[in-house]
Amino acid sequence: MSKIRKAVLPVAGLGTRVLPATKAIPKEMMPVVDRPALQYVVDEAREAGIEHFVFVTGRNKGAIEDYFDRAYELESSLRDKNKIDILDKLTAELPKAGSTSFVRQQSPLGLGHAIWCARDVIGREPFAILLPDVLVKAKKSCLAQMVVAYNKVGGNIIAVDEVPMDRVSSYGVIAPKTAGDNGKLIAMSGMVEKPSQADAPSNLKITGRYILQPEIMDLLSDQAAGAGGEIQLTDAMARLMQDQSFHAFKYDGQDYDCGSKYGYFEAFAAYAIDHPEIAGRARALIKKLAQDG
Ligand code: G1P
Repeated sequence: MSKIRKAVLPVAGLGTRVLPATKAIPKEMMPVVDRPALQYVVDEAREAGIEHFVFVTGRNKGAIEDYFDRAYELESSLRDKNKIDILDKLTAELPKAGSTSFVRQQSPLGLGHAIWCARDVIGREPFAILLPDVLVKAKKSCLAQMVVAYNKVGGNIIAVDEVPMDRVSSYGVIAPKTAGDNGKLIAMSGMVEKPSQADAPSNLKITGRYILQPEIMDLLSDQAAGAGGEIQLTDAMARLMQDQSFHAFKYDGQDYDCGSKYGYFEAFAAYAIDHPEIAGRARALIKKLAQDG
């Protein structure tokens, strides 16, 4: 089975749900405690063995390329001021030279189209997708857990989590082969993007982490627009399922939707109460705010 070496991170979205915060900076660069949200996602992928990161960008996303590059002036001024620990941290987080690619999605035609824009860089090997709006806080990274599952069953793996039925219409939702399957790795028989509550085949939402075979790119090349008038990845995966195996994977961890106001707040709070420099004070503050409330 080929190793999962490459990951696609679609970062072209406008971040309209958290405007005006995202008017002048990409939503993926919004800080969660002391690092951009995107850094957490890259770290998750790195822990899973990803060697090459393909960012699908759009207009006004230049800050992302700069972030993953050396910053000579900043580095030399830190060196001059003898702030070596900060400097070391800064450079340690940089991806290796040549391990990032940036492709541009010229029109916002949907997630499926964004992924398809990465086809030439991905080539003919299985690859991962991480939607950077979603942070998954976990002991072992969510994608790393998925790679372990992939090494057992191969095919295509999609991270899922339970969601209250009144929220299914915000997500892609999977259909288990066996209704009520309560395992961690669930054989699938279908999936649907943003179903109504009545049409949802389960309460298992697609979280935003995928391991897919390269044939998905062929299907995306002629994928018609679906839910919301956008070219949907979910629709192409549902077609690929006619030829290939798909498993849903229930990961250990908690996901946060940083593209929404409340999800961003949740993520910030969750990472703050574990941050070595501020954990104690952050926990005390949250307790106090709840009491004073
Ligand atoms: C996308 C996917 C959807 C998935 C969701 C997770 O939707 O299309 O299947 O459940 O991400 O966040 P979006 O949030 O971009 O509308």
